[in-house]
Amino acid sequence: MISITVNDVKHDVDVPPEMPLLWVIRDELGMTGTKFGCGVAQCGACTMHIDGEATRTCVFPVAAAVGRQIHTIESLSTESIERRLAGALIRFCARLGTPEEDGSSRMMPFTHEMLSRYVGTSREIITHHMNHFRKQGYVSYSRRGILLYPQAMGALIN
Ligand code: FES
Repeated sequence: MISITVNDVKHDVDVPPEMPLLWVIRDELGMTGTKFGCGVAQCGACTMHIDGEATRTCVFPVAAAVGRQIHTIESLSTESIERRLAGALIRFCARLGTPEEDGSSRMMPFTHEMLSRYVGTSREIITHHMNHFRKQGYVSYSRRGILLYPQAMGALIN
């Protein structure tokens, strides 16, 4: 039996010590927010935070997680995802220079990259929140580029 602490809750699991943490959490604990992608530590779909460090869990044996704090996407509230998303969008715009430049085609890949690399948020959750932002009017896409509403975005990240 192996004991791991996931999202501040201790769990005992009867699995081989070399089993990748991703599968223990998905199949044994039923937390399916973290996804499988490449299986070779390349894509980041399986990222969780272990002692605060983004870790690719498709190649991380469960035994190495004993005694450490594991956090999955399920531990992030909707509010914190949206704050991080707002931050990623603002960084994107800063990198673009001016909002008039055509950044619409690069916006989603950039935001996915930012959040999956630094926050461990899955692609489908990012897309869900991006669509929510759009419906709320915080961000809109146009043929020539993107428009942000600075006051609304500022309120989200303050
Ligand atoms: S599934 Fe791609 S990095 Fe783990």
